[in-house]
Formats: sequence, structure tokens, C-alpha cells
Amino acid sequence: MKIIAANFKMNGDKEFIDNWFQNFEADTENLVVVGLPAIYLESSIQNFNKSNFKIAAQNVSKFINPGAYTGQMSSAMLNDVGVEFCIVGHSEAREHLCEDNESVYEKYNCLKSFSITPIVCIGESLEIREANNHLDFISDQIEKFKTAEDKIIFAYEPIWAIGTGLVPTQEQIEEMSSHIKSHFSQQVTVLYGGSVNSKNSSEILNMNNIDGVLVGGASLNAEEFANIAQS
Ligand code: 13P
Repeated sequence: MKIIAANFKMNGDKEFIDNWFQNFEADTENLVVVGLPAIYLESSIQNFNKSNFKIAAQNVSKFINPGAYTGQMSSAMLNDVGVEFCIVGHSEAREHLCEDNESVYEKYNCLKSFSITPIVCIGESLEIREANNHLDFISDQIEKFKTAEDKIIFAYEPIWAIGTGLVPTQEQIEEMSSHIKSHFSQQVTVLYGGSVNSKNSSEILNMNNIDGVLVGGASLNAEEFANIAQS
């Protein structure tokens, strides 16, 4: 079983999301996880959560207790409305919301304490890749997680592959997934994200040490995403 995850980012509205769910039909054993904007989580969970189909949040507060954190949403709140998965550390959140490795790890721990499964995004910029520092950079991003005892889900999303149509080679993806896994004694799941579509998904899902995909743009089309889920 692979994990086929969608990240809608800040796209869609009520009508779009309703239509998407009406049009999404996939006959698959894979676990399908759909990351929606926060305001649509609760209604989508009520209408669409099934055993191998889950709704995910795209971010969460690093603060565990209620308090004066205007605009934030806690793990307890996500749990309250039935969210079972949450993306953290996406490169867009690192860039636009100033998140760092420390805060991503705090978020991971908050989610864990409410039994929500985090999907931890990591990935290097083109500059870092070209300087051949990508392995060290990823080691830094996952350093704090080395003490975690549970199974961890990482999504390796090289920034230069997000929304660009560029996909790393099989060697580059496999090198990185085994590099990530080499830091841990426990089972670690590695998804690949960055310009995944229904044409390249089978090849990516067949790569060594790749346990699923995290799909941005192509997930907004329900039929295209169903094809990825069935690949
Ligand atoms: P794209 O699939 O649009 O490249 O986005 C990937 C991504 O950022 C998923 O989190």
C-alpha cells in the first residue's frame, strides 16, 4: 500500500471542492489523503472520510495549549473535527510563514500528542542542489526527528521541482530516499513530491524506497488525481 496525497494549497472554494469529491472515483488499495484549506476540513470529513480515504490539514500551530495566538489553529482543534493527517514544514510555509526546523518539529510533536499523523515536508533549493550540498541540507532538516520513536512520514519535495514541471532523475530520488531512511532505525515512510502527474506517477511509485507521492497542481483535477491514485 502506498500513500497518494494531494495538497490543494490555497485553491478551490466550496463548490469546487464539492465537485471534486463528486468526480473523484478511484478503485485503489492505496491510502488516499487529501490536504484541504482549513475552512473546508470539517464538512469534507463529515461527507467523505472513509477507511482508505482521509482528509488532511495543511498546517497547524506549534503551540499546544489554547491561548493568545491570533489566526492559529491547534492540534486539539484539528482533532476535534476529526482530522487524522496534517502536512507540516511545506517549503511554501517555510518561505512565507518563516517556519524553521525547530518549529516544524514542535508542530510534529503537537500533532503526535493528539494522534494526528504528520506528513513532514523537506527539500532543498536549486542553489543547494547545484552546490552539491543537498544531502547535508536534508540531514539538517531531519536532525531533530532522529530522537522520535514512532514511524515518521517525510515528503521529499525539492523546491526546484515544485510547480516547475522538473522532476529529479530516478537516481536522484532514490539516493535521497535512502539517505533519509539511513538516519533512522525505525520504519520511515518517504513520499516524493514535485511535478507529479498521471504520466510520471507509475514510474515514481515503482522507485526503490519511495512509499507514495504528494501531489500539488495535478491533484486539483479529480480525474487526473484518481489516475495517479490508481497508478
Ligand atoms: P506540484 O505537484 O504542483 O509541483 O506541487 C507539489 C507540492 O508542493 C505538493 O505539496
